[in-house]
Amino acid sequence: MSTPSMTLFHAAASPFVRKVRVLLHETGQAERVALHPVDLSPIKTDAELNLGNPAGKIPALRLEDGTVLHDSRVIVEFLDHQHVGNPLIPREGPARWRRLTLASLADAIMDAAVVARYETFLRPEDKRWTPWVDAQQDKIRRALAHLEDEHLAELASVFDVAAIGVACALGYIDLRLPDLGWRERQPNLAAWYAEVSQRESMLKTAPSVA
Ligand code: BEZ
Repeated sequence: MSTPSMTLFHAAASPFVRKVRVLLHETGQAERVALHPVDLSPIKTDAELNLGNPAGKIPALRLEDGTVLHDSRVIVEFLDHQHVGNPLIPREGPARWRRLTLASLADAIMDAAVVARYETFLRPEDKRWTPWVDAQQDKIRRALAHLEDEHLAELASVFDVAAIGVACALGYIDLRLPDLGWRERQPNLAAWYAEVSQRESMLKTAPSVA
């Protein structure tokens, strides 16, 4: 086993961190990275993380020379240039923009799910705003319907940056918004997710948090 040369600031539940970790496993680079756990929320920061990423957000990847990369999109692009296998982000042509657009939709689902989670879990009950949570959930429902109706074959064609993003977004919904009931509305997406969830990269990064 080689000594890790990079440090990933992470929280087990973060879908954005999981995306990076799945890509590390899929590209055979997991052992290059040491995990540095941080306990974060919109009102809680970490001093060491802030030194490298003043926004105080994860994931952040500290390289051997001390350079810190963030956010997840930058990190996955960097890591995808660090291995010799097939790129998980197409380097050029229409495929690049299609896959990055799908990956961006996956990020938007994650964003909405994290916002909804914080609004219902972190914010004091008397300050919660139900229409705000409903709007986040609507965003997720629209995005999942779009993936089911328009992009399933594309997603299933290769487990790349787009498929990894969608898989991590669905994993986070199951973890934090288990009542969303998306499987009944998107059975084909659910079947695809059941299959990719069994990949070693997904099993090894499954969040084991309450
Ligand atoms: C969560 O606990 O749901 C979470 C933690 C860190 C980043 C995003 C989400």
